[in-house]
Amino acid sequence: METFVIEGGRRLTGRVRVNGSKNAALPLAATVLLTDEEVTLRGVPELADLKNMYRLLSELGCDRLSEPPTGEPGVIKFRADPKGNSHARYDIVKTMRASICTLGPMLARRGYARVSMPGGCSIGDRPVDLHVRGMQALGAEITLDGGDIIAKAPAGGLRGSTMFLGGAFGSTVLGTANVMSAATLAKGVTIIESAACEPEIVDLANMLNAMGARVRGAGSPRVIIEGVKELSGTDYTVMPDRIEAGTFVLAAAITNGDVIVENCPIDSLLCFIDKLSAMGIHVTPVPSAPGVPAGVDPLRACVRVTCDRTLKPVEVTTQPHPGFPTDLQAQLMATLTLADGNSVITERIFPERFLHVAELSRMGAKLYRQGPTVIISGVKKLIGAPVMASDLRASACLVMAGLAAEGTTIIHRVYHLDRGYERMEDRLKCLGASIQRIDDKDLPKSSQLSEG
Ligand code: EPZ
Repeated sequence: METFVIEGGRRLTGRVRVNGSKNAALPLAATVLLTDEEVTLRGVPELADLKNMYRLLSELGCDRLSEPPTGEPGVIKFRADPKGNSHARYDIVKTMRASICTLGPMLARRGYARVSMPGGCSIGDRPVDLHVRGMQALGAEITLDGGDIIAKAPAGGLRGSTMFLGGAFGSTVLGTANVMSAATLAKGVTIIESAACEPEIVDLANMLNAMGARVRGAGSPRVIIEGVKELSGTDYTVMPDRIEAGTFVLAAAITNGDVIVENCPIDSLLCFIDKLSAMGIHVTPVPSAPGVPAGVDPLRACVRVTCDRTLKPVEVTTQPHPGFPTDLQAQLMATLTLADGNSVITERIFPERFLHVAELSRMGAKLYRQGPTVIISGVKKLIGAPVMASDLRASACLVMAGLAAEGTTIIHRVYHLDRGYERMEDRLKCLGASIQRIDDKDLPKSSQLSEG
């Protein structure tokens, strides 16, 4: 297994470009199942999760078409055979929970879908009851067999309906994606009340409409979809990754750096930027190129990140968008370990999403967890240590802590990080970080992970 070795204490400076969004690209890729025509996606990051999605789509009768060598990175092209296999098997779904977003498109176009229940993961239970409720509201008959969801559309196809899609933790992002996609081919009008408002849902609605769908209100809690007979192919560019952008902004801040972040979707990060300014971290739009005015496209802006010498403590509660994103909670916590005073973070989306707390404490952070809340008592410095990555965003948090810590930090199991960040170590090196990716067995014996 691979490991990061980080020598901390170096300020990050220079320029970094944000990649396309993993959490947009996954449901966007699944839309290929809604049409018989070619679908091209551009600006797609090279990530483990997306490679798993391509493997799943190929199993579901989608041919990956070769792209003429244009040299343009991140271009994928697929065409689906609607008579293809319609069973998303457990061995793929268990590696990538987002496989669930093939359920709606497959059911709508083929009238049948069998998708393994994804099961829980390290950030908590990941139920799919709202996905099932949404499909049933569209007229599907749902049965569970051997851990699989088996969905069958009525003889005449799915039927539009009005539904409430909120759960105990608020809206569901991929649940909204599933229902919105399926409703594009349903007969009649569908109204989703308590839809997820995340920017990735807006991106998906834009792509569906480019395919001939009629989706209105995406980005608001009420989305209206007027069913159409069929969808065409399209050529669509994925929005920038707001979570990756936020991660680089905080990496700059935790090292008291001065970094330009390009292709930064500030329009999707307003709550995050508001909290950071209260901490004394400044995210300022700058011209992306000489002569181009600052902030021309707030979804693809160029910003400069600087911060006050001493960071101020804050209180943050994670919420569905437009609130503070749960996917930046761990990264914020790493930064707040060095603030001057006591901060409070409450996790309302995944109350168990705190595996990074014990690892940060190993580095000298003072953290006190009470259920879904953690009190962060700021310390003067973190001390490098061997730590264990556990999930995607906790891994990013540990990288950031290692960048700021005094001495050497060894992060085991960085495969978690590769799920959502492309070549993270190379891009941090370009900003002046001292970070190496090495094989665990090349570490000194004392630093190697003992099995188990
Ligand atoms: C998406 O997951 C993201 N993943 C997650 O990012 C993100 O943390 C999450 O949304 C919340 O913003 C992708 O987009 C691929 P939810 P999703 O359904 O859609 C509960 C990352 O790090 N719920 O919005 O699966 C659920 O347990 C990942 O990039 C139900 O109760 O999340 C949670 O408490 C991690 N029943 C809350 O809703 C359901 O049927 C929000 O979950 C579905 C969800």
